[in-house]
Amino acid sequence: MQIEPWGEGDLPLLEKALGDPAMMEHLGGPEGPEKIAERQAGYEKAGSGQFKIVVGATGEAVGWVGYWARAWRDDEVYEIGWSVIPAFQGRGIAGLATRQAIAIARSERKHRFLHAFPSVGNAPSNAICRKLGFTLLEECEFEYPPGTFMQCNDWRLDLFGRS
Ligand SMILES: CC(C)(COP(=O)(O)OP(=O)(O)OC[C@H]1O[C@@H](n2cnc3c(N)ncnc32)[C@H](O)[C@@H]1OP(=O)(O)O)[C@@H](O)C(=O)NCCC(=O)NCCS
Repeated sequence: MQIEPWGEGDLPLLEKALGDPAMMEHLGGPEGPEKIAERQAGYEKAGSGQFKIVVGATGEAVGWVGYWARAWRDDEVYEIGWSVIPAFQGRGIAGLATRQAIAIARSERKHRFLHAFPSVGNAPSNAICRKLGFTLLEECEFEYPPGTFMQCNDWRLDLFGRS
């Protein structure tokens, strides 16, 4: 398993992740083709912080992990997210891929804190945060997408601390 920078040909993988109602259960429901194309355009830019997860000798693409800068509580931080297609879930892939993406974010020495905001009912994502050494700060409510309210956990990792 490894992660590779998101590429121009990776739109079908994004459609599998963001267009699938089962995959988007904890993320406000599936996104439409226009929104997905807009994301693709940002992801394929060099240095976007977005990666595809590939497995095996053939390099089959099975998921996404990525981080981006955002404002949070008067600070500029990184947020990270991940997704693995259903046929490859439950094998530890998301955890391993996220560990690799964190190492890249850490090596940039750009933002100190990396946050993840899984919904409180997203058991595997909360397990990944716990396993990778994030600290649970608090529960918070997000409006995402507009009009939909999600109850999320605010997990934080110190990228400048000991890894
Ligand atoms: C969240 C997601 C990426 C997890 O992918 P995955 O490759 O199956 O995750 P992993 O195999 O690395 O498992 C993560 C951990 O969750 C645990 N886990 C899985 N299901 C669980 C459950 N129902 N209850 C508690 N823990 C669970 C696993 O045991 C594993 O922990 P371990 O390695 O200590 O055993 C995948 O379910 C997904 O893509 N969901 C849709 C998109 C999404 O919700 N993304 C998250 C946005 S923050």
